[in-house]
Amino acid sequence: MSEIPNIEELAERAAAELARVADKQALDSFKSRWLGRKGELSQILRGLKDLAPEKRREVGALANQTREKLQAAFEECKAGLKREKSVAAELDYTLPGRTIPRGGVHVLTRVTDEIVRIFYGMGFEVVDGPEIETDYYNFTALNFPPDHPARDMQDTFFLDGDYLLRTHTSPVQIRLFEKRRPPVRILAPGRSYRNEAINARSFCMFHQVEGFYAAPDVSFADLKGVLVAFAEQFFGTEAKLRFRPSFFPFTEPSTEVDLSCLLCGGAGCQLCKYEGWLEILGAGMIDPEVFRAVNYDPERITGFAFGMGIERIAMMKYRIDDIRLFFENDLRFLAQF
Ligand code: PHE
Repeated sequence: MSEIPNIEELAERAAAELARVADKQALDSFKSRWLGRKGELSQILRGLKDLAPEKRREVGALANQTREKLQAAFEECKAGLKREKSVAAELDYTLPGRTIPRGGVHVLTRVTDEIVRIFYGMGFEVVDGPEIETDYYNFTALNFPPDHPARDMQDTFFLDGDYLLRTHTSPVQIRLFEKRRPPVRILAPGRSYRNEAINARSFCMFHQVEGFYAAPDVSFADLKGVLVAFAEQFFGTEAKLRFRPSFFPFTEPSTEVDLSCLLCGGAGCQLCKYEGWLEILGAGMIDPEVFRAVNYDPERITGFAFGMGIERIAMMKYRIDDIRLFFENDLRFLAQF
């Protein structure tokens, strides 16, 4: 007497296999394996005669039911595959594809690259400096007295220990002078940080380009010449610069430089707050104290330095009226450049 076959278990195995069927080939092999003449079910049906008569009925009925169920499930699966295929056939391959949006260079990077390109043409070399600085490089070596207000918590983001986020790119001057002997003609673009109230004109982080030139006989006329040449190349020949006397601990004399408003040509408008001019940089002749701090001989070496606000310059060039737009990552803004 042969053993009673486990038809329920067989039905489970068959259903599991059908669930994995994803193409015609798999469907065919399912059919021959489970519904074909050589399939397990057919074998069970053929073997019914060897069973005890009272079992024969029960097993036979169950086997036939299972076969019907599998057949129905098979038909359903087949119809499903056919439907998928006809959807594929209806696809219109001539429709335009989906465009993949292309990334672009951030407007500030663009402006920085352009500034670098112009100064590169005037013989400036580009270097980098750390954004996390020490008090020495950010202030002391730049001739800030110990009680200078810029050293206040109000302006500077202090970190643990002696560290702080640089408040300007001028510390790069010191780092470079320590490493090199004159002549040096350097451009150092990068981020700076100030603990300021955030509004349309100022942000807690911004970009500057530090430029400096130290060599025997560098004069204020050299500084003016370089800055005017830059402004004409960057903004066009109609751009005018205005040099106002100012003060920085690390330059003497010092100046702040304004650009004639490109929107109104100096007549006064909303962009320039009816001034006709917009401040774009601080500059001056490097203070002998700075040269002493890095062991340059101030009797022999003179130099100029300037620090430009990149956002300011970008705002002028592209007529952007809110500095926060640069940092909000709104593609509607960024994609315009
Ligand atoms: N570091 C100054 C600032 O951030 C700008 C400056 C740079 C002035 C170099 C003079 C010389 O305001």
